[in-house]
Order: sequence, then C-alpha cells, then structure tokens
Amino acid sequence: MTDPRLAVIVLAAGQGTRMKSATPKLLHELAGAPIVSHVLATAKALDAAHVLTVVRHERDRLVELISVELPEAIVVDQDEQAGTGRAVELAVAALPDDFDGDVLVLNGDVPLLDAATLEALLTTHRAGDADATLLTSEPADPTGYGRVLRAVDGSIERIVEQKDATAAELATREVNAGVYLFGVESLRDHLASLSTENAQGEKYLTDLVAALRAAGSSVTALPVGDAWIVEGINDRAQLSAAAARLNALIVRGWQLAGVTIQDPATTWIDLTVTLAPDVTVLPGTQLKGATIVATGATIGPDTTLVDCEIGERATVKRTDATLAVIGDDATVGPFSYLRPGTILHADGKIGTFVETKNAVIGRGSKVPHLSYIGDTEVGEGSNIGAGTIVANYDGVNKHRTQVGSQVRTGSHNVFVAPVRIGDGAYSGAGTVIRKNVPAGALAVNVAPQRNIEGWVAANRPGTEAARAAEESGNS
Ligand code: UD1
Ligand code: CA
Repeated sequence: MTDPRLAVIVLAAGQGTRMKSATPKLLHELAGAPIVSHVLATAKALDAAHVLTVVRHERDRLVELISVELPEAIVVDQDEQAGTGRAVELAVAALPDDFDGDVLVLNGDVPLLDAATLEALLTTHRAGDADATLLTSEPADPTGYGRVLRAVDGSIERIVEQKDATAAELATREVNAGVYLFGVESLRDHLASLSTENAQGEKYLTDLVAALRAAGSSVTALPVGDAWIVEGINDRAQLSAAAARLNALIVRGWQLAGVTIQDPATTWIDLTVTLAPDVTVLPGTQLKGATIVATGATIGPDTTLVDCEIGERATVKRTDATLAVIGDDATVGPFSYLRPGTILHADGKIGTFVETKNAVIGRGSKVPHLSYIGDTEVGEGSNIGAGTIVANYDGVNKHRTQVGSQVRTGSHNVFVAPVRIGDGAYSGAGTVIRKNVPAGALAVNVAPQRNIEGWVAANRPGTEAARAAEESGNS
C-alpha cells in the first residue's frame, strides 16, 4: 500500500570519477543490471507517495533507464553546484509544498541495500522522535566513507568526510552509509544554508547532521550489522566485491531452491535468470539475461548462456550461446557456438566445433562435428555430415538453406544457398551442393578419383615416402 507520508530521493547525479570510465558509474553492471537499477528497484518496493531521482552527469542515459524502471519517478536536474546536499535541496524543492512526511535519501551507488533494512530504518525513525535517522556501519576498511562522530554521551554530533577528517577522526570505525531519513521540515529549514567550505568545495548532505544538532534537533542512527549491505561502489575494486557478494546470494538462493551448483566461486548468475529444481550447473558457467533452464538440464562446465531457453534434461557443455532455444533431451557441445536464432528441437544435437546462427534444427536431427550452419532449416531425424559449411552469404546478401527430414549428407559438404535438399536425400562426401536435391536422391559432384601408379617412385625418388612405398611392396 502506498505510504502517503514517505518520499524517496535517489541521488544519481555524481560523476563517479573514481571508476575512471567512459561509462557513467551508476550504469556499470552487477548481476546483469546497472548499479542504479538495484537502488531503483528497492525504492520502488517501498511504495512511497513520491519518488525523485537527481541526475546531472550523463543525465540522458540515466533518465532513459529511470523512465523504464521507475516511470513514476520525478527527475530532478542538478545544477552546477556540486554535492549531495545540493542534490537533496533541489529534490526537496520539487516535492509538493503540502508534503509534510519523511524523506528517505538513498545514494545511487549503494546497490545491495534491501527494502527490509529500509523498513527497519523507517520503523526506528518513526518510533523515536529524532528529526533525522541514519544508517551506519563498521566496515573492515572505512577508507572513503564519512566518519560518524559521537559525543561522550553517545549522541551523534556530526559527520566528517574522509578528505576533511583529521587523523584522529579517521580512526573512527563507524561510518555513514549514505542512507538517511529526515522529517521534511529539517531539510527545508537547513539545506539552503549549508556551506561549501570543505576539501571538495561541495555542499555536503552530511553537514546537515551538525546543522540539526546546532538547531537543537536530534539525530539518531541505526547501525547495520552486516557492513556489506551498505557498501558503496566508487571504484572497480568495490564493484567486483559487491558483484561477488550479490552473486553468492543468488547462487545460494538457487541452491536452496533445488539447483546443484558445484562451484559457487566460478558460477555467475544474473538476477534475471530462472532455474528449475534439479538443474545442475558445473564450474565456469555464466547464466545471463533472460536465460531459463528447465528441470534435469545440465549446464557447463565452461559455458556462457545469454537469453537462452534450455529444455528438460538437455545438456550444454563448454558452449557459448546467445538467444538460442534448446529442446528437451537435446545435447550441445563441447565447444559449440550458438548465435541468435538458433533453435535446436528435442533430442537434437549440436556437437563439437559447430557454429550456428538463425538455424532451426528439427527434432532428433544432428550436426555433430566441425560445421557452420547459418540461415538454415533442417527437418526431423536428419544428420549433417562432419565438416559441413553452409555458404549463406554471396558477398552482398544472405540466403536460406532448407534441408528436409531423414536426410543424410556426407562429410565435408558445402551447401551453397539458396538451396533445398529434399526429404530422405543423401549426398556424397565432399559434395558442393549448388542445385536443389530432390527427395530420395543421392547428390554427388566430386570428380572421380584417378590413381597414378608409381608416381612417387618416379617423381620423388629417395624420399621417406618413396622408401615406405617400396617397402610395402606396392610401389
Ligand atoms: C557519500 C557521503 C559519505 C558516505 C558515503 C556512503 C556525502 C558528502 N558523503 O560519500 O559520508 O559515507 O556516501 O557511501 O554525502 N551525487 C549527486 N550529486 C552530487 C554528488 C553526488 O547526486 O553532486 C550522488 C552520486 O551519484 C552518488 C551519491 O550521491 O550516487 C554519493 O556520492 P559520492 O560522490 O559517491 O559520495 P561518497 O564520496 O561516496
Ligand atoms: Ca559513494
């Protein structure tokens, strides 16, 4: 149910310089979704009456994402004045004048924070009479975070940023998680007057704590037991640490749901993937995007699936596949490369060193070895010989190949598209199929073999070959 007394502000205007990237920090991914998407999803789960996002750096790219994932959010453009305090000041100005509830501020770069922790923060804030409540934690390494400075009576006095802190202040273990609840009046009264006299020349939201204290208002904190929940991502080392943490949670979730995952450390699963009970995932596997795996299937080792659908009891081994559909009991790999539009029906096989693209391979049909099959349809129960290449590209256009059912083509064929091979047809080894093959026909076009007896003895005398031939008695 919508909480009429709650507004959520997601701060997403920062530049993220520490990532040293052409991609905005908040669009770097973990578990298949941009950092900020995780925060937007949490904001959405709270069902607040008002959601606001503050943007500036690469604003169009962020706004595009926000409009898809949180369309109800009001987008606030931050001006040239930098700092989290300025960002919140502008967002509060965009709230309706008659809003008099609580404002939850979330840093856009704290992606692992869950809605349950925020509900706890909300409960703590509303149960007490503090004007502000912040989440704090004690990470193993507090470097980079604002330190929470308390008075001797334990009350919170102020927050000092890493770059402004003295050595003694830096020794403080408790840090500001970047997640706060304020009564909206506290924000309206004090944000405008925050100074920019600090190491970064920014308007710090964190200075609000001291301002509230000075005005006689009270600030409390809810310490979070597991520091990783509120870890911020500023650089790529923190990005990989957070991604590993989230992945471990995802893997464990699937294990408890009945999926065998042999090696959690080398298995990476996006949040958007769906696995059925009794799926087995072997080491070195990445499951990405909208991938769905049905019960009894075995994926891996060393397999990457992007947006794939895998049928029951199918096996996919040492394979790279994107937008492919694999039927029940089908087998893929080892060493297969399935490009978009590959559909392998039930009981089919795509084997070793086979590349496919826009290829529909019918029930029980097999492409077992060393082939390229593109823009092709194969009927049921057919076998494509080892080393077959579909020549689908004439240098300008792509053309289609159609192979019927119960076809047996020889090894090392080329199907020069457009071409059709009828039901039950055969082809000889080494055939270059340029013309349609009628149903039931045998296609051959390799020149008859000619053996020139004694050629080696006559033309390569004294070689190992000539000696071997002579010793065999058949020179
Ligand atoms: C901030 C806090 C710090 C806290 C830490 C927790 C301040 C001044 N410091 O530091 O006390 O320990 O988060 O992770 O708030 N942003 C804007 N507009 C701006 C600047 C930043 O919207 O002008 C956004 C960023 O996109 C980011 C968030 O605010 O999502 C935090 O900014 P960042 O620069 O990462 O702050 P920290 O230095 O990590
Ligand atoms: Ca940060």
